[in-house]
Amino acid sequence: MQWTAAIQWPIEMRGKKILFGVCGSIAAFKAAGWVHTLTKEGAQVQVLMTSAAARFVTPLTFTALSGSPAQSEMFAGDMAHIALSAATDIILIAPATAQTIARLAQGLADDLLAAAVLSSPAPVVICPAMNSRMLDHPATQRNLRILREFGYTVVEPECGRLACGEEGAGRLAEWDTVREVLLSLLTTQDLAKQQVLITAGPTREPLDPARFLSNRSSGKMGYALARTAKRRGATVTLISGPVALEPPPGVQVVRVETGLEMAEAVSQYAPTASIVVKAAAVADFRPAAFSVEKIKKTTTEPLLELTPNPDILAELGRTRRASQVLIGFAAESSKHEAEGKRKLLAKNADMIVVNDILGQDTGFDVDTNQVTLITQDSIEQLDLLSKEETADRIWNKALSLLDSKRRQYGIEQI
Ligand code: PMT
Repeated sequence: MQWTAAIQWPIEMRGKKILFGVCGSIAAFKAAGWVHTLTKEGAQVQVLMTSAAARFVTPLTFTALSGSPAQSEMFAGDMAHIALSAATDIILIAPATAQTIARLAQGLADDLLAAAVLSSPAPVVICPAMNSRMLDHPATQRNLRILREFGYTVVEPECGRLACGEEGAGRLAEWDTVREVLLSLLTTQDLAKQQVLITAGPTREPLDPARFLSNRSSGKMGYALARTAKRRGATVTLISGPVALEPPPGVQVVRVETGLEMAEAVSQYAPTASIVVKAAAVADFRPAAFSVEKIKKTTTEPLLELTPNPDILAELGRTRRASQVLIGFAAESSKHEAEGKRKLLAKNADMIVVNDILGQDTGFDVDTNQVTLITQDSIEQLDLLSKEETADRIWNKALSLLDSKRRQYGIEQI
């Protein structure tokens, strides 16, 4: 049995110290789930509850989920608010009620949570949750504006069915959105100002109304590239074939089906991108003819005539501006390095990411990958990593390629 490396991920939260403020809202039960998730990801979570919060979820619940005693008393220990806030990487307040938002906007320190926020230099993330009319009230909107002026990040509530039975804005934001906000605040924004274009997933080449040619790409590699680029501050456009993945928060997703549609979308978005990464598994061929009727079984085997799809990467290599970083992938089952080098030259790419599609934990439809990064003057074999860690390593390399182009073309800001 082949043992895969014990992959511990996501690594981004491991060891991070999070002060988690919980206020008196029915959404406090969701906060319990978030505390559990953060703790599982290796973060050190200290929960501070308002007195009203304890009416919804007991401190014991948060203590059990976080592994440290949930606190609320102002005078729980000598200068507790100072000690707590000093060693914090980030403060998350979820759910944040209108009452606590107002207290923070006024700079009050009338409980442990407010005092800790006032005494901490750490970034503050506010997740409001309340009835729509309370949220829309000018006082609440003014207080949220004040908190934004303090530099706090307010994660907009979702619209939908509220605990009071009404429909409207005021539902606590989704965890995936909040998690990405936390990770962005904990991650160096080295891709800020970069417009990146990523392709992901398979294409589907229709044969008749019921059938199509496709491949095993799940989109995980491309979506990990989009998620990590956004986390590092990039403006991200993701051109995606048909996949079963949720789009990463804050990313523009352009959905396509066929290779021709992907080629069209790439030609539209590539010119403004400073970095293009082509992780999609684009079909090289499509059926020469589409049958408007479902092809029926007959006594003779049907012949399938194919015609080539445009080679999008090669076309980009021909038409792109020299200052743009162009990164292609290579899905290989043998001669990995040779094929990677060949494609680097043939497509005029700046880097080819070679992955073995026969590996048990690499390539199609798995959460890990083991790739080789090939550029004109380097070959780097990465370890077996999560696709998010692989993506981060690809972005690191892309930034150094961008830097060399800046120096080569004397361009200050690409
Ligand atoms: O999506 P996952 O399940 O996570 O799987 C990830 C992946 C295996 C799909 C990904 O890591 C990968 O290898 N993507 C490239 C797959 C592919 O089409 O490889 P290729 O060697 O056939 O193509 C080489 C390059 O040309 C790729 O950048 C591809 O996007 C591009 N291409 C290919 C054909 C075509 N007609 N136009 C293209 O632009």
